[in-house]
Amino acid sequence: MRSLIDILELSVEELDELIALAEDIIANPAKYQESCRHKKLATLFFEPSTRTRLSFEAAMYELGGDVLSMSSAGSSSAAKGESVADTAKTVSCYADIIAMRHPKEGAPMVAAMNAGIPVINAGDGGHNHPTQTLADLLTIWREKGKFTGLTIGLCGDLKFGRTVHSLIAAMARYTGNRFVLISPEELKLPSYVKKDILEKNGIEYIQTTDLEKALPELDILYMTRVQRERFFNEEDYLRLKDSYILTPEKLKKGRADLSILHPLPRVNEISVGVDADPRAVYFKQVLNGKYMRMALILKLLEVEV
Ligand code: NCD
Repeated sequence: MRSLIDILELSVEELDELIALAEDIIANPAKYQESCRHKKLATLFFEPSTRTRLSFEAAMYELGGDVLSMSSAGSSSAAKGESVADTAKTVSCYADIIAMRHPKEGAPMVAAMNAGIPVINAGDGGHNHPTQTLADLLTIWREKGKFTGLTIGLCGDLKFGRTVHSLIAAMARYTGNRFVLISPEELKLPSYVKKDILEKNGIEYIQTTDLEKALPELDILYMTRVQRERFFNEEDYLRLKDSYILTPEKLKKGRADLSILHPLPRVNEISVGVDADPRAVYFKQVLNGKYMRMALILKLLEVEV
């Protein structure tokens, strides 16, 4: 039995298999519509979510399975002081697989150690978000047709943005990728990600505060929101929240084959005027997330189709 807590638990070969499976689901949805019949997914979300929770639930329904949903910490026994371990043991009496989001880093791992059924990390604090990375990878694959030799700009809140940490870990395993880390000084990539992932693997990267200067060389621009809920004070958030706003005007400096990704939700960092640009693929990325979650559920439940 396997869980997914960190994207690096999946080998490069397994990522290829998940992408191939997602492509097959896209091409032949009817083939999969009964494959999780009588299986139940529990979504345990102790933090707000729209896409991640609903895409997990849509994924399970499209596989013919059922869903048990807990959409806020306040509505569960966590509000009475129940531990993550006890919640996990309890939910495993009802469900076959769990997707958990939690504000505490490592909480899904604690759940996985106690559940007795597979647990998927659907975002833990400012740490990791492996299934967003699956969505990002399918999007990069479909837009670029490769995972190698890419110049990848990541812009915004690189400190607290868990999707950034997981995506860097995943893309650092392929050859020839360069990272351009664009953020305000206060929101730079944590040094553990720089040391343990980029420097350890001899990956080329630069850090800059200047989005417009970086734009012309990028194959991929991954925009992120400033993570308000992780700030210690509102003043800092207000000062930093509009550090970067991508507009059609600025995008004139971007290459014709640039792909613009964003895990969403967007606050102010991409103006809606950009949405009509064919290089903006963040809503395709949303749909890709559902297909990759379908593929992941099939893999972790060991369902053969
Ligand atoms: C992201 C998250 O929760 O980390 N959202 C998502 O799952 N697509 C990004 C964010 O909240 O900014």
